[in-house]
Amino acid sequence: MYKHLQTSPEAILAIENFNLPSSFDFGKVICPVMIVCDFKNGEWGALNMIPYQTISLDPTCKVFHYGQEIFEGMKAYGVEDKGPFLFRPEENWSRFNLSAERMGMAEIPKDIFIEAVSGMADYNRDFIPNNIGESLYLRPFMIATDNHLGIRPSITFKFMVLASPSAEYITSDYVKVHIQREYARACPGGTGRAKTGGNYAGSLKASMEANKLGFHQTLWLDALHKESIEELSGMNFFAVIDGVVHTPKLTETILDGITRRCLIKIAQNLGYEIKESHMKISELLKQIEDKSCTECFMCGTASIIVPIAELCETDGTSYSLTYSKGQVAKQLRETLLGIQEGRLEDTEAWVTTLL
Ligand code: COI
Repeated sequence: MYKHLQTSPEAILAIENFNLPSSFDFGKVICPVMIVCDFKNGEWGALNMIPYQTISLDPTCKVFHYGQEIFEGMKAYGVEDKGPFLFRPEENWSRFNLSAERMGMAEIPKDIFIEAVSGMADYNRDFIPNNIGESLYLRPFMIATDNHLGIRPSITFKFMVLASPSAEYITSDYVKVHIQREYARACPGGTGRAKTGGNYAGSLKASMEANKLGFHQTLWLDALHKESIEELSGMNFFAVIDGVVHTPKLTETILDGITRRCLIKIAQNLGYEIKESHMKISELLKQIEDKSCTECFMCGTASIIVPIAELCETDGTSYSLTYSKGQVAKQLRETLLGIQEGRLEDTEAWVTTLL
């Protein structure tokens, strides 16, 4: 059934000996096996499933010094004994390769990537949690492995996939968001559109400051004018204004979220008007004040959809959303999760069933 994937007897034993803990949150419990595939001499080697273990790397390994790294976030679903299902895995594959291209890394063939993530969901199917909103979070990633302190692109890489039985990333009903007006996440010509660790590393100081001020997430504005709304370091942004669903138009500084794309389609199918445009923070705050903006929410693979209760300035000025539990957000979330979990009809052919 698999053309590339090789599974060691030790990996099978590790799966047989693993018990899913009764409680888990996001990304803490890790499945007992992992996938490894090395790129050298211009080609990808064997795709191996081995027991989960630490990896040994030379301290001069490029990823440690120059951050040449990319990743994806995706999920396998097995709620109420349905599935297992994967959701649009080809989209993750193509975004992975866009990130690879931007970061000067080797691209990975579709069949290797798809076998790797399908194999992890398949062999770990007994560890897919079965409550609504829970899933097996899959983390494909690639690191640069040349051993050399010179600043030049690596020509060897390690691709790996981990799996983690996970609850929702954000467990609160809604979040308070800090409008970040000092730092920038991404600038034109930079790496903002790539899913690379450095973009997340660069956001951490702002999230520490937001947390200190009592807020949960950072809202990033465009680097040059600090005026257009971009994203929330790992989540895309939406607002409902006069009944129309708005989201920032993609630029090279915004991650092209797969959940974002799905929500646009789902909202259209549900009859909402959708507007993708450059959204000015100054206008949005006025629209929250005059109550024409009734909801803001954020979305991503890990977080699904989370309503935003307040947008806050550093000095504490707060713009509260009347409908913080968001009726549109609720409807979109129920529809998206229903499709992903096989409880609603998959009219867009987004779901792949693993045999
Ligand atoms: C995802 O939604 O999968 C992400 O990559 C976001 C990360 C912050 C967990």
